[in-house]
Amino acid sequence: MSAGPSPGDRVIESLRGAHRRTAEPILLATVSGIATTNPEMIEWFARETAVTIITSKSIQVRPNPGNREPVITEPEPGSFGNAVGLKNPGLAAALLELRELRRRLSARADPARSKPLLNISIAGRDPEEFSLLAGKLAPLADLLELNLSCPHAHGGYGSVIGCDRNLVERCTRAAVDAAGATPVFAKLTPNVAAPGELAAIARRAVEAGAAGIVAINTVGPDQYREPETGALILNNPAPPGSPDAASRSGLGGRSGRWIRERALACIREIRDGLGPEVPLIGMGGVELPEDARALRDAGADVVGVGSVLALVHQKEWPRLFRDLADGFRNEGSDPSRPLPAYYREEGNMRFQRRTVAARRELGGGLFELELEGTFAFEAGQSCFLWLPGVGEKPFSPALDEPATFLIRRRGLVTDALGRLERGDSLFIRGPYGSGEGVIDATMAAPADGAAPGSVALILVAGSGAALAPTLAKRLAARGVAVRVMIGLRDDTTAVPLEQAIRRHADLQVLRDQGVIGRVLRVAEDTYGGTGESASPAYPETRRTESLNTLWAIGPDPFMEGAMDLGIRLGLDRDRIWISLEEEMLCGTGLCGMCHRGGRLTCAHGTFVTMTAAGGAGKESCL
Ligand SMILES: Cc1cc2nc3c(=O)[nH]c(=O)nc-3n(C[C@H](O)[C@H](O)[C@H](O)COP(=O)(O)O)c2cc1C
Repeated sequence: MSAGPSPGDRVIESLRGAHRRTAEPILLATVSGIATTNPEMIEWFARETAVTIITSKSIQVRPNPGNREPVITEPEPGSFGNAVGLKNPGLAAALLELRELRRRLSARADPARSKPLLNISIAGRDPEEFSLLAGKLAPLADLLELNLSCPHAHGGYGSVIGCDRNLVERCTRAAVDAAGATPVFAKLTPNVAAPGELAAIARRAVEAGAAGIVAINTVGPDQYREPETGALILNNPAPPGSPDAASRSGLGGRSGRWIRERALACIREIRDGLGPEVPLIGMGGVELPEDARALRDAGADVVGVGSVLALVHQKEWPRLFRDLADGFRNEGSDPSRPLPAYYREEGNMRFQRRTVAARRELGGGLFELELEGTFAFEAGQSCFLWLPGVGEKPFSPALDEPATFLIRRRGLVTDALGRLERGDSLFIRGPYGSGEGVIDATMAAPADGAAPGSVALILVAGSGAALAPTLAKRLAARGVAVRVMIGLRDDTTAVPLEQAIRRHADLQVLRDQGVIGRVLRVAEDTYGGTGESASPAYPETRRTESLNTLWAIGPDPFMEGAMDLGIRLGLDRDRIWISLEEEMLCGTGLCGMCHRGGRLTCAHGTFVTMTAAGGAGKESCL
């Protein structure tokens, strides 16, 4: 008696021929390296969107920190270049994360909804590495995707393999042999020289046992230059010893709008070359519902949704997926209809060149960097500072006028910023974030915030003070009395942003005096009336003031302590706010890094209530 179709067979059958089922919704996938780059973002998509396939970041045998930022740029609106450099935690860590993810996905599976398929992308440099990765990861995957196509990877990975029919065949065969019943898809590069070569490579992959094809990976690679100075933007150094280092530095692959036509042509070529039966996942520049439809008409059974995510706020991603699945812009197919309002039409990664007006050293590695001119932002928004040739990092701006940053030296970029002098220049982009975590005038305070005798308490540690002036200003503008308590590690560091904070709030400075986080103890004294009584600043208010909100800004352990304190002081979890400063590579939602519980801080802003933070811990990235 036959054992019936295996899960792998069922996957293939569910995809096969979908490009011909034109009356049905278009099947969608996330693409490797964009947004679903870690377990929590994968869960977010599984929970929130109508997606058929979720694709992981490409996993390599060994951990790879990727390139230093900037790694993503948007030279024209909707058109991107990237050199993320296959950042991933390596096979051993990925196995642990994916096992745990699988467990959680099954525990949470909603029987009323079909579960998305998990597509694990793997990147080896030879058949042996593909075999190892496939063998280990196949049991956790619904399908495996072989990255034979990254155009900016060094060391024998990516499109070096994908441009060579023989290597494609050998790597595919090795992965297929190791993957058992799990279907293997080969992801191909459009960057092949001869006409017809792409279809020939796709056929070789299928002959070697690939159950399906994925295309296209990014186009190029190319160099991207800041228009005013000509500085190379992407931080992708040429391979060591490279004879033509100048032309091989800063290379990154193109994605988004400017590769749409190329993607369509490639999908047509592959479909014509393979016939109608081989499952094909197509991607490249899909932005509007009609693009998704065109790619399906060209032969894609599943359509990948990648760079367009940078054009749409995360809160609208579920709607974007629904609209793309429909294949029609709004109702009907009239292309003259206006775009849905959720697309951003302007580019938002453009750098502005700025001149340093002053650098003030505060001690303890902290300094204030003042720029000429203004920079408008709200508390909770992030922006990036870039020094060409050094790197780029995200910051919470401190003052809008004059534009000022509070920075602690902690690595290459902050050290270099800390050496800038008056008249030097740097680049800035942003601000990023619009949502409930951006504290503007409307978000600033609960309705009873201005009640007599009630105060908003802002607790900050070290460089967290950056957010205090604007937050205090917003709260004060709503008529709320604001207290700021700053904790500083040592006795010598000058008080950051002191005047700006005092303009809107009462300020109390608390030095650790050997007790880490002493500011929290003193706050407890002041508002709880027990413990250490070392808060002479407000003895008269100790028992009469009540707290309406508590805001904590600083390292994670500090904010955890502050949240516990808020609860002990009797505050509701919705009135305790923390600011999450997560690793952020792009500011536009593509890297998927700056999330907590699947909520991207680049989209929603850094502030969350304790309820929203909900113990959703951060996991490492795939
Ligand atoms: C920031 C970024 C990171 C990417 N990382 C990977 C990756 O790790 N592996 C891979 O196979 N493709 C990677 N890609 C390529 C995408 O998966 C996709 O093939 C390409 O972007 C075309 O689709 P799009 O125009 O819709 O973005 C990456 C693309 C971008 C923009």
